[in-house]
Amino acid sequence: AAVDLGPYQHYMQKEIFEQPRAIADTLGHAQSADSSLFDAKPEDLEKINSILILACGTSYYAASTAKYWLEDLAGISTQVEIASEYRYRKTVPNPNALVVVVSQSGETADTLAALRHAQSLGHTETLAICNVATSAMVRETKYRFLTHAGTEIGVASTKAFTTQLVGLYLLALTLAKNKKQLTNNQEHDAFSRLRHLPSAINAALALEPQIIAWSEAFAKCENALFLGRGLHYPIALEGALKLKEISYIHAEAYPAGELKHGPLALVTEQMPVVTVAPNDALLEKLKSNMQEVKARGGRLYVFADSDTHIVAEDGIHVIRMPEHYGDLSPILHVIPLQLLAYHTACARGTDVDKPRNLAKSVTVE
Ligand code: G6P
Repeated sequence: AAVDLGPYQHYMQKEIFEQPRAIADTLGHAQSADSSLFDAKPEDLEKINSILILACGTSYYAASTAKYWLEDLAGISTQVEIASEYRYRKTVPNPNALVVVVSQSGETADTLAALRHAQSLGHTETLAICNVATSAMVRETKYRFLTHAGTEIGVASTKAFTTQLVGLYLLALTLAKNKKQLTNNQEHDAFSRLRHLPSAINAALALEPQIIAWSEAFAKCENALFLGRGLHYPIALEGALKLKEISYIHAEAYPAGELKHGPLALVTEQMPVVTVAPNDALLEKLKSNMQEVKARGGRLYVFADSDTHIVAEDGIHVIRMPEHYGDLSPILHVIPLQLLAYHTACARGTDVDKPRNLAKSVTVE
């Protein structure tokens, strides 16, 4: 193989463990939320009054997480759409919208076609968040942000995802600053939390032995449910996608408040319910959602921040996250979900780096 696996069993595992480095490289020397990070001038971004993000697969979940940041920090109305849907429907273009394509490869056929479709509708303000500098999307957009994940070989995306999140968070900060919605203190604080991410991720990676223990139970299941709320709902979706892609276990994700509108009917002892439990404003609501599952005999597997006071009991398994990470918490919480999918797939003996029927980059429709 072109890249040495070192101590790892698969490229996916190696790439999961490379995330502290990938994030540090993606941040580079960035010290402030400046439009130059996106190859743009301040006046380019000043006219932006809405955002449309187009992507597929894991990149779509990065985009879905960013919607929370863009609306919350920058106060800019944000729409996220699956590229293969957008390209074939009639939409109402806003010339002051920033169209963002998020793509590891920069070559995904549907995302590239969606970008070209947006341009044909008159959109001129286009930004690629991409891991390949020479790709079509980077060449064809007006602005760009390169993630520095390095070559990603595993079909299931990991380090590309977390570095996309870093780029998207920087975009939210930059737009917020442009709109005078970010104080110097807030900016300084955000950059110190970004700089500390690699060590926080290392602490999350150290949970691997506990996750391996859980994966043995998961490997025997045919279905799994993932719950998250708020900006961790897309993280639950990404956790479910990872599990289905590489372990072939049917998995779906729900925002926990929606449980009562359908998925509670599926809850049995046979179906593990993975819960993303950050110590945020929705914690109490999430705890009552967990009780709804427990009361029906469900088995909960909870990734809980410290200070959540969620304790292991009959039917509730808990792995404690190293620290609560505020609005950057999705970047930390996705790490154990990647490891859970990875080790469950290993326990089932699948071809982790090359799952059946899937391709790393889908360059045909
Ligand atoms: C394929 C890959 C996924 C990836 C998606 C989008 O389905 O298997 O891992 O998320 O394409 O790829 P892109 O390169 O556009 O991010």
